[in-house]
Amino acid sequence: MCGIISYVGDKDINSVLMAGLWRLEYRGYDSSGVASVMDGELEVRKVEGRLMNLQEILSDKPLGGKVGIGHTRWATHGEPSDQNAHPQVDCNENIAIVHNGIIENYYTLKEELIKKKHIFKSNTDTEVIAHLIEENYDGDLKESVLKSASRLEGSFAIAVIAASEPDEIVAYRYGSPLIVGLGKNENIVASDIPAVLDHTRRIVILSDGEMVVLRKDKVEFYNNKGERIEKEEREIKWSPTSLDKGKYPHYMLKEIYEQPEVIERNIALRMEDEGLNFGESFHFSPHELAHLSHIVIQACGTSWHAGYIGKYLFESLARIHTEVDISSEFRYRNPVMDGEPLIMAISQSGETADTLAGLREAKAKFLNVLSLVNVRGSTIDRESDSTIYLNAGPEIGVASTKAYTSQIFQLYLFDLYLSKLKWTMDAPEIEKRVKEVNEIPEKMRKILGSADNIRKIAEKYKDSKDFMFIGRGINYPSALEGALKLKEISYIHATGYPAGEMKHGPIALIDENTPVVAIAPHSSVYEKMLNNIEELKSRGARIIIIASLGDKRVKELSNDVFYIPPSEESLSPILIALPLQLFAYYIAVLNGRDVDRPRNLAKSVTVE
Ligand code: M6R
Repeated sequence: MCGIISYVGDKDINSVLMAGLWRLEYRGYDSSGVASVMDGELEVRKVEGRLMNLQEILSDKPLGGKVGIGHTRWATHGEPSDQNAHPQVDCNENIAIVHNGIIENYYTLKEELIKKKHIFKSNTDTEVIAHLIEENYDGDLKESVLKSASRLEGSFAIAVIAASEPDEIVAYRYGSPLIVGLGKNENIVASDIPAVLDHTRRIVILSDGEMVVLRKDKVEFYNNKGERIEKEEREIKWSPTSLDKGKYPHYMLKEIYEQPEVIERNIALRMEDEGLNFGESFHFSPHELAHLSHIVIQACGTSWHAGYIGKYLFESLARIHTEVDISSEFRYRNPVMDGEPLIMAISQSGETADTLAGLREAKAKFLNVLSLVNVRGSTIDRESDSTIYLNAGPEIGVASTKAYTSQIFQLYLFDLYLSKLKWTMDAPEIEKRVKEVNEIPEKMRKILGSADNIRKIAEKYKDSKDFMFIGRGINYPSALEGALKLKEISYIHATGYPAGEMKHGPIALIDENTPVVAIAPHSSVYEKMLNNIEELKSRGARIIIIASLGDKRVKELSNDVFYIPPSEESLSPILIALPLQLFAYYIAVLNGRDVDRPRNLAKSVTVE
């Protein structure tokens, strides 16, 4: 979380830093700040709240100078406030630092530094780094950063400037991403590639334990022993995302509406006449996959829900035993990995700290990792043996929408591929399913075309305090996702449950104030779902059913119905996702929430 931008060059430091911060805002937005060296002195501007606040401060009191660092924060240690915003500075106001990550031994270091008479002004772990560098400083910023980094535990990407060395920036990466943009008479360090693309397309990605010293006309890379190293330069061919919402009031709505196009794009890329093509980063041989007996999927949040759907898919179609785990659990539970399972990491951003750590756990056990990632060149992409790209285009809204349906889509196609290799599906069956896949974008468009019905239903329920989402089989994870989508953007409590589990406890919560969203398209568990809905209805719940078009039975069971076009059961989660996303979106908007930047959240969760 947190976004870092630092610049050395002749352009106006205010515009460069602010433009970079706007591109990084998705990483955190509870406070922000910038610093530069002006006439031999450190100048710092920082403020709590959205980036607009910083922009206003800079309009009144702009920075000058040729080197600058900037930061947009997602608070870990210390509440969002002016004082806790980065940059953090040392006692002498010589050194300024911006940081992404968590310093796990900050408390011990702070005690040690307080004993040495350092005065702390914030509650952040980051300030410890500023004072540590000050403690180690004897006129060489690079050396003092190196020495200080060796004392830090946890994860950190930092960029540091010093008033006493006004021509350079020193940056160090350990556990949180950092990339360098190489320009002509200017150089940049940032958390993410789009933040440098307005200036250059030549980039270098730092690895853990590497440091870079940037001057206007020189960039030097070092390892953690302080030895010079050579780094590979890459040219970025794609363009930075337009920050334009087009005709939509929110990115989230725009991204919801982009979903048919995303699936169409993936159909074109993946489904060739000769068979399925998972792209240039997919390196498994058919032979290897034909012998696969066990898959372990690990991911967080919405990506975990997609992974859960993957479990139902792989077990029912390709008949491969599949486990799915939340990455923050997977990484610490020392799972038994007998039989060389394929590990799958699913991540929109490709930077989620827990998913990355899970991937590294698997690699340490010499297991093959296949990732599903939207952001090319992200750390998870780079560290995986193979990657299937989501090709969803940049997702800016914090709530994942189009990446989620693309994740399910890729899992479905990968499942068909495995089913063919393992002979669990015959050719006519595969052909039938391929035909169904081709119909998905049109079905999605039909659902989006009736968004107004969902808005009307949302209006009826917008003031409810608790929601229950239920589903069974492959749409049990859809229920989890529906509840997550609603709570994360509306701040209304919502729980997802397998419908058959309600009578084992949660049914006690049901009364006439509890809306239940029941996912009940025609499927192998349809009758079971109707029984579960009856049980809730007889206890007074207000029932909203998502059902297959033409289903008359659900009418008498429900207060409201939203119909979706019928589909093959294993593809239904892709269609079900749309009304769930729209329902959450409208309820959040009707409650006046900032749906694209909900409180306390960030798009990219790079701390554990
Ligand atoms: O980038 P990732 O897919 O790895 O992110 C995982 C979760 O942080 C993410 O899905 C989160 O739950 C979203 N806010 C859901 O909308």
